[in-house]
Amino acid sequence: MAKRKRTKNLDQNGKITLSVIKADIGGYVGHSASHPKILDRAARHLDIGRTDGLLVDFHVSSCGDDLELIMTHRHGNDAKPVHKLAWDVFMECTQLARDLKLYGAGQDMLKDSFSGNVKGMGPGVAEMTFEERKSEPVIVFCGDKCAPGAWNLPLYRMFADPFNTIGLVIDPSMHDGFKFEVHDVHKGTDYMLCCPEQMYDLLVLIGSPENYIVKNVYTKGGEVAAASSTQKLALIAGRYVGKDDPVMIVRSQSGLPAVGEVLEPFSFSHLVSGWMRGSHHGPLMPVAQSQATPSRFDGPPRVIALGFQLNNGRLVGPRDMFADPSFDRARAQANEAADYLRRHGPFEPHRLGLADMEYTTLPAVLDKLIREQGQK
Ligand code: F6R
Ligand code: MG
Ligand code: MG
Repeated sequence: MAKRKRTKNLDQNGKITLSVIKADIGGYVGHSASHPKILDRAARHLDIGRTDGLLVDFHVSSCGDDLELIMTHRHGNDAKPVHKLAWDVFMECTQLARDLKLYGAGQDMLKDSFSGNVKGMGPGVAEMTFEERKSEPVIVFCGDKCAPGAWNLPLYRMFADPFNTIGLVIDPSMHDGFKFEVHDVHKGTDYMLCCPEQMYDLLVLIGSPENYIVKNVYTKGGEVAAASSTQKLALIAGRYVGKDDPVMIVRSQSGLPAVGEVLEPFSFSHLVSGWMRGSHHGPLMPVAQSQATPSRFDGPPRVIALGFQLNNGRLVGPRDMFADPSFDRARAQANEAADYLRRHGPFEPHRLGLADMEYTTLPAVLDKLIREQGQK
């Protein structure tokens, strides 16, 4: 752990940046969880970043085999020193994972050396920069055994569906609706769609979460309300290298969806792609942090919700938001859906469709058959 030089504060007009950067650097046992020593090492490394003044505050967490670095600072989105710090933490934790012979050590570290920004190098990133309000409740969601795009349905419900968010109907400060920035995964382009005006256009796109991912949500006035990670490992590596379990940040209350409106979409355990070998559809189960340990058929997919109150950039929390009996039914529903889907074994639609199997064994099997049977 090298001691860093004290970092100059590149103040963003008093704005605070919340960066959530995550990677699977090794699992314990198999791909089911993170080892406590890894979390401890990451926290000790980030503590140096805080002492040096680069970070205002941080919290280290995990969901399944993914290590999540939740950081506040005043350097804006895509800040090189913050991304470098995260990269160094992941490299150091990868080394520790190797020493402990944890499973899949360094799984998401697709590049050897840092090149300015962790995007495109394996880790997933959700970041937002904003002026901290009089009181600033934020919720950080972390998924495991699921893909970016898993947040499309809940984000739509939170920010566009009055059957979920009654504030859209009865709170004058929300009544204008919100803007969704949607990322085209294959073309790399983004679209901005306003709700409720372009609701149907939005749904055409984000109803296909493998292809279109909600990247950010803004108020009509341009204030950021939600940010999610959109990095797809297979598209970076050109082959299947594990699932790009996503993270998301949602700001809440006072003109934004209330905490309860932000959590409500997860009372329905919707189907996402991921689960065993990243190749199946399965229900996204909302769980307490202590239950974020996917084990049955390496799943079912999990989501945790960590609630914080920001206090001048300090992360007061977390509160484990799904550690609540009101999500018991969603968990039971997820187990029932898991039973039903598992009975399909290797058949679609439990197994992903062919287009999404592109990065697994499918091309090799087809090549072999063509070779053996002399077809073109
Ligand atoms: C899914 C996941 C696991 C692994 C599975 C096989 O995201 O991480 O389901 O795909 O356990 O892992 P390997 O190929 O490492 O034996
Ligand atoms: Mg793993
Ligand atoms: Mg994972």
